[in-house]
Amino acid sequence: KNVAVVMGGYSSEYEISLNSGAVVFEELDRAKYNVFAVHILKEGWYYVAPKGDKHAVSKDDFSFKDGSTTVKPDVIFNTVHGTPGEDGFLQAYWNLLEIPQTSTGFYQAALSFNKRDCLSVLKQFNIHCANSYYINQGNEIPSEEIVKKVGLPCFVKPNRAGSSFGVSKVKELDMLIPSIEKAFAEDHEVIIETALVGVEVSVGVYKTNNTINALPVTEIVTENDFFDYEAKYLGQSEEITPARISEEETKLVQEEAKRIYKLLNMSGVTRAEFIIQKGKPFFLEINTTPGLSKESIVPKQIREAGMTLTEFFGMLVEEAEV
Ligand code: DAL
Ligand code: MG
Repeated sequence: KNVAVVMGGYSSEYEISLNSGAVVFEELDRAKYNVFAVHILKEGWYYVAPKGDKHAVSKDDFSFKDGSTTVKPDVIFNTVHGTPGEDGFLQAYWNLLEIPQTSTGFYQAALSFNKRDCLSVLKQFNIHCANSYYINQGNEIPSEEIVKKVGLPCFVKPNRAGSSFGVSKVKELDMLIPSIEKAFAEDHEVIIETALVGVEVSVGVYKTNNTINALPVTEIVTENDFFDYEAKYLGQSEEITPARISEEETKLVQEEAKRIYKLLNMSGVTRAEFIIQKGKPFFLEINTTPGLSKESIVPKQIREAGMTLTEFFGMLVEEAEV
């Protein structure tokens, strides 16, 4: 099978995606697929050959030249974080081309990438979420009203972004507006949420043979104010797998993550984040193209579950859907 490992993207997360893509490439190569690294960058879409030469990818059918042959991928392994690979754009395009791909469908991706909309759908199904306030760029920022609703400390987040780019924890009213302005640099929609107090956990969920499974739960401990960019990628945090929570809490978190995956009708591997506050998991977000680099959480959970990355990623390729 020809598998295109698609990486990059147009957001601040593109470098992280290149790391995820490199890991997947290596593992699928080991699994004996014909693997092709495809970079989706603002400058263009390219197949990057092992020697480093670049060949443009046709937007008509996602084919590209490899030497004198034209390759049309049988399957896409999507490792793009952020737009356009985690918010449904590429998924919809591959769907139109009828190329199976490993991540969740375009609608699910678009919905889950929009924090406000995802939370508002899930609230209908009694998933616990923090109180939140949503604001569009260009409108006056009603600081008092926001704080009245979400309290302090609160989190200010771009509504559609990842890897904590543009996220701040706000402890004092004075910092609210500057933090919102900072978030607007990533997205013109911003969401402000109550800062929950409890243990932060993250859990991968995937589907195989029509069965939804949860991976072991990871606990996130950070020296920083929250699990920010530095904590995530510069080692200023500790990710403990399995999480040091009771068996009962572990089950609760896994069941909740599986319920969300099922409610949203997802596919591929996703990773949901919660804060366990007073024994109750509060949903933060779900990532539909979770990080797969060596430092990322899902690969650790896969190994903890007793699987190799080679077999897990191979399984995702076999499960890929149009
Ligand atoms: N958005 C990053 C890559 C993650 O969720 O792992
Ligand atoms: Mg995220």
